[in-house]
Amino acid sequence: MSERTLVLVKPDGVQRGLVGEVISRIERKGLKLAALELRTVERSVAEEHYAEHKDKPFFGDLLEFITSGPVVAIAVEGVRAIAAFRQLAGGTDPVEKATPGTLRGDYGLETQFNLVHGSDSPESAERELKLWFPDL
Ligand code: CMP
Repeated sequence: MSERTLVLVKPDGVQRGLVGEVISRIERKGLKLAALELRTVERSVAEEHYAEHKDKPFFGDLLEFITSGPVVAIAVEGVRAIAAFRQLAGGTDPVEKATPGTLRGDYGLETQFNLVHGSDSPESAERELKLWFPDL
């Protein structure tokens, strides 16, 4: 069944010129782009996006980082799109969890600067897509 997920190329990925690489891997997997926008996110949107992490020790740094420069937000569509993109991204920690061949495994070193975000469940995807692409 086709579904949608929210993908972000985070400020580190944009800064390092990896937007094309992320999009290329999404397309090679067979997923489609339903919406795409380059945007510097306001703090209020970042707080809402990461609401589940608000009590974590890294929350402040995470907000600073995600609002530090433009991100590319993409609504990605396809069969099992949520799990499929998480497979492409690799685990949250680019060294300990992400394996080579994944975006984070190939390009990341630090957990905070892990290049991309992908919704982790259908509920998160729905919530995040409403926040980033209210008109979709
Ligand atoms: P993401 O998949 O966008 O979801 C939450 C983000 O918080 C995560 O990617 C990382 O960028 C960040 N994060 C998670 N754990 C840590 C950590 N231990 N230290 C710093 N940042 C973290």
